[in-house]
Amino acid sequence: MFPISSDNLLNVGIEACLAASNVIMDAANLPRVSSKKGKTDLVTETDLLSEKVIKSTIRSEFDDHSIMAEESGKELTQSDYLWIIDPLDGTTNFVHGYPSYGISIGLYHKRKPLLGIVMEMPNVKLYTAVIGGGAFCEGQKINPSETETLNESLLVTGFGYEHLENWERNMKLFKHFTDITQGVRRLGAAAIDICHVASGLVDGYWEYDLKQWDMAAGLIIASEAGCRVTDIRGKKHQLEVDNVVVTNKLIHDELISESSSYLN
Ligand code: IPD
Ligand code: CA
Ligand code: CA
Repeated sequence: MFPISSDNLLNVGIEACLAASNVIMDAANLPRVSSKKGKTDLVTETDLLSEKVIKSTIRSEFDDHSIMAEESGKELTQSDYLWIIDPLDGTTNFVHGYPSYGISIGLYHKRKPLLGIVMEMPNVKLYTAVIGGGAFCEGQKINPSETETLNESLLVTGFGYEHLENWERNMKLFKHFTDITQGVRRLGAAAIDICHVASGLVDGYWEYDLKQWDMAAGLIIASEAGCRVTDIRGKKHQLEVDNVVVTNKLIHDELISESSSYLN
């Protein structure tokens, strides 16, 4: 079998993302009907429809590829390609009309990252990256910030839906980092937060209890932009690991070191 060109894969991913963004935009000004997957974990008809549109666009070109998508789970085949999809990241924001949500589509080949596409909405910005080719926002190359110390930095984090041990731990980290930086933001869409580090809007991000579809595309974009990505202990990040730290590289060691006394 001939390998598929990255351009072809990227174009199909972008096409899927654009089709999904139309679904989300069409629904953005209508009353949202949500149901709960957990105590605070919302899902809407739009999450489901967006996922359907993304999957059918990918399937129409590559019907043998594996897909892992938040709402419908895994469809694994013999293919070397695995698409990892969050059809609507930041559903709670979407439900409330708060302007930070988006679409996240990552592609792995032979278990290695290949490309990432994140669309920030409703103020649309399309972030893309192919491994080895740099990262882009609306076609312009992006880079992380040059902030050198935590003391001068602005961070962003998030809190998962499960209010257990990690949630308590993150509350403490939130307090500590609010104390020693210029601020910590909590916007509510992990893929967008990661792209904000990649494009230098914030200097660093950490979060616990993430799923693969929250991170897959964003981490490819961040790495290609020149960010450092590790787990919360500073070790090489694997997508199966549910915590992550993404920074502009320069503040990474300091962030890990400051977190360490809150881990056990
Ligand atoms: C959530 C968002 C949020 C993060 C949660 C995720 P969803 O994704 O990315 O920022 O804190 O952990 O589950 O449910 O809106 O797709
Ligand atoms: Ca998500
Ligand atoms: Ca989602």
